[in-house]
Amino acid sequence: MDVKLISGALGAEISGINLADTSVSNFNLINKLLLEHKVLFFRNQNITADDQISLAKCFGPLEKHVYVKPRENYPEIIRIIKGPNEKHQWGETWHTDVSYNVKPTKVIILRSVKIPPVGGDTMFSNMEIAYETLDKEIKNKLKNKTAIHSSLGAAAFVDKYEKMSGNGNMDEYSNIHPVVRTHPETGKKILYVNSMYTKKINDMDKKESDEILNEIFKHQERLDFTCRFKWTENAVAIWDNRSTLHQGLTDFFPGKGLGYERIMDRIAIEGDKPH
Ligand code: SIN
Repeated sequence: MDVKLISGALGAEISGINLADTSVSNFNLINKLLLEHKVLFFRNQNITADDQISLAKCFGPLEKHVYVKPRENYPEIIRIIKGPNEKHQWGETWHTDVSYNVKPTKVIILRSVKIPPVGGDTMFSNMEIAYETLDKEIKNKLKNKTAIHSSLGAAAFVDKYEKMSGNGNMDEYSNIHPVVRTHPETGKKILYVNSMYTKKINDMDKKESDEILNEIFKHQERLDFTCRFKWTENAVAIWDNRSTLHQGLTDFFPGKGLGYERIMDRIAIEGDKPH
């Protein structure tokens, strides 16, 4: 096995591990690497949808997306498709998945099916470092604070994208989570807000909450907290959704990435209630 770090903040490209091997020892190794690096990348993994599901089940119960219609015959898989002439793609700004749920996603396994020649890399940001490096005054203000996370406006997640379909659900979900959560497996503190879903810090007036949240959102996006993965077909990313933010870049410009499809298969594993 070889582990190549892809930035100073997080992320490792792993070779010499077969993701179709769901033995306890192989899974324990993958999970150990994941807790250490927060996002793992594997290339040339010629795995099937069933292999991807089997691996995902090793992490825990699978989660169904509340809005997106899954792949036919695979209720566990969302197929993320960017049409050739679309400039936008699903997941295109910094976020942590479904933080509006009571138990937001634990881990995501994303497999590349079709990749443009250029464009559409995925970026990740390390929320453990984001917490450690947070301004002391802001840290003090956030002590024991909670925030409201909401899916308000979620219809746009599918309506905006030509090739993605909703499952008909339009309900709004909103839940309160600690602004700083503790990772259930590593015990580390994590900054747990994101600009896509976090609407307000509780027990603060709206103006102060907006000011602090905007400051934190800027902080979370610092490039020195990030890594970036350039996809090839049959690659797999596995990330810890509790301790990271991510976004799919939309750098699809004429004469370059525009004019090509991008297709990914995504499986989410259910998390626990953040504490
Ligand atoms: C996502 O936000 O889950 C998708 C990211 C990507 O397709 O790069």
